[in-house]
Amino acid sequence: MTVQTENLSGLDLRAEIDRLRKDRNAIILAHYYQKPEIQDIADFVGDSLELSRKAAETDAEVIAFCGVKFMAETAKILSPQKTVVLPDLDAGCSLEDSCPPDKFKAFREANPDHIALTYINCSTEVKALSDIIVTSSSAEKILSQIPEDQPIIFSPDKHLGGYLARKTGRDMLLWPGVCIVHEKFSETELIKLKAEYPDAPIAAHPECPAHIVEHADHVGSTSSILKFAKETPADTVIIATEPHIIHQMEKAVPEKTFIGAPGADGNCNCNICPYMALNTMEKLYMALRDLEPRIEIEEELRLEAKKSLDRMMEMSSGTVGQGDLGPKDLAHKG
Ligand code: 13P
Ligand code: SF4
Repeated sequence: MTVQTENLSGLDLRAEIDRLRKDRNAIILAHYYQKPEIQDIADFVGDSLELSRKAAETDAEVIAFCGVKFMAETAKILSPQKTVVLPDLDAGCSLEDSCPPDKFKAFREANPDHIALTYINCSTEVKALSDIIVTSSSAEKILSQIPEDQPIIFSPDKHLGGYLARKTGRDMLLWPGVCIVHEKFSETELIKLKAEYPDAPIAAHPECPAHIVEHADHVGSTSSILKFAKETPADTVIIATEPHIIHQMEKAVPEKTFIGAPGADGNCNCNICPYMALNTMEKLYMALRDLEPRIEIEEELRLEAKKSLDRMMEMSSGTVGQGDLGPKDLAHKG
């Protein structure tokens, strides 16, 4: 249920959030797709892997997670002793919605020789049914540690899975989910924009369809797109991901110009994530004040989901060597 905002006019929300953060011993974690004012008040802004690491490491008693529900749930799975609040519990994800646990379980059962490599953008139940979780920044590294002859099902993002399959030559069975935000970029409009700015490189997120990714000079997670935008010698860069990340780019390199890749209507506003946009400063304030809405996960489910997330943490930091992992190491969860 979407949080009803009270009339908070007259309150200095920045000051109140700051006060509550101290009173509650809270940390505010935010994804790059959050509104600029939320990114600016956060203690840490990052991509999905970095945010998971921060949630696992923090000494704070409360995590106010400004992102979407699967991210806040990941924080709770990794830090169960902490209170995790999400400003709006309706902040979901089209990829999570595309992959109901019962259908995912049936998919696994129909492919008993396959291990399940699953994008972090999924429910806790689907994590519990998976062998290894990946993020866009860790997927390639993790994939390279799985033996070549091991069949894999990759869920729920068919575009990220397709990108990985093309890049690594691995033939994976793909779940047919998409991100409704990255799906909306228009190739025709992108080609027109590139003709207008021929020297501007294109940086794209791998959640984009192949017809967008194939025009990109750089493909990677939100953090890697940000790094590329800062480091490229080009003074204009075209960004094919959710446009709120441009806020960090403009702060880091104000002398450069960043242009959001267009949707079919020729502008980029249709690429704002409607789920991420549900979080507001008002709701963040109320979440810190009331310690609600709170993420709660039943312990048996949490422990099962943690196994696949722990594998991600180990394999993305390189503590499992290449070829170390075989099917025998993975508990089949069909
Ligand atoms: P990353 O920040 O890990 O690249 O993920 C992007 C995304 O769509 C999160 O929902
Ligand atoms: Fe989900 Fe796409 Fe929004 Fe990320 S941008 S939360 S993948 S709908």
